[in-house]
Amino acid sequence: MTATLTRDPHQVGRIADRLGAILTQRGIGPDATAHEPPSEPVTALELADARIPARYRRALTDHPQVTAWVDEIARAGRPGPAGAPGISEGSSLLIAGPTGTGKTHQAYGAIRGLLAVGVRLRWEAVTAADLHARLRPRSGFDSERELQALAKCPLLLLDDLGAAKTSEWTEELTYRLINHRYEHMRPTLITTNLPTPELRTALGDRVASRLAEMTERVILTGPDRRRRSTPTG
Ligand SMILES: Nc1ncnc2c1ncn2[C@@H]1O[C@H](COP(=O)(O)OP(=O)(O)OP(=O)(O)O)[C@@H](O)[C@H]1O
Ligand SMILES: [Mg+2]
Repeated sequence: MTATLTRDPHQVGRIADRLGAILTQRGIGPDATAHEPPSEPVTALELADARIPARYRRALTDHPQVTAWVDEIARAGRPGPAGAPGISEGSSLLIAGPTGTGKTHQAYGAIRGLLAVGVRLRWEAVTAADLHARLRPRSGFDSERELQALAKCPLLLLDDLGAAKTSEWTEELTYRLINHRYEHMRPTLITTNLPTPELRTALGDRVASRLAEMTERVILTGPDRRRRSTPTG
């Protein structure tokens, strides 16, 4: 037997009254109007800033190799549907260095740099550890679709590669993601704490070999910026 939904007008009226009372109690009366959207146009950079973690929302790249990469990618962009240059094939960067030297800052600075010069850009950013957690197979979640979305995204920031604990499954996942981006020459920003030999051990030879060919290596040095002592007067 199937249940039948009845629409008794008296009952609907009672529900509407109760809803109205709850909204009024919360200071959102039924007559409240939605806020007007801002009338000024929102730039791509402003939209992107909303997705960038607060700590890197004002990041500007000041590293010559990273700014050169931004210029190269911006110049190589094909015109998108609205006439603005879009991003297509291009080189990738592997930003390496010890903790706190500014790798993630440079990576977000590069994304912001591309948006600031008007490149239409669909981008994703994920740490390797979050990637593993996000794609872990579980019921009701299409992890294959998620992996394909990241693999095909025009620009991907893969942060902290090699830092997460690995297993056969994570190695295969990283291989498939990197291999796709390698084959299709999709611009990818990768950061890592690990020196090359250790990165090879952590990721396996197949991934390390592809990274060696597809990326230009940017080495950051210096003290941990998070621990910089403030000058005293
Ligand atoms: N060029 C820069 N100018 C100003 N602030 C910076 C710069 N580079 C890094 N910082 C700041 O220094 C701190 C550390 O930077 P970041 O998080 O990028 O380091 P990291 O190399 O990614 O570290 P980890 O290896 O631990 O992930 C952050 O607060 C960041 O905002
Ligand atoms: Mg970082």
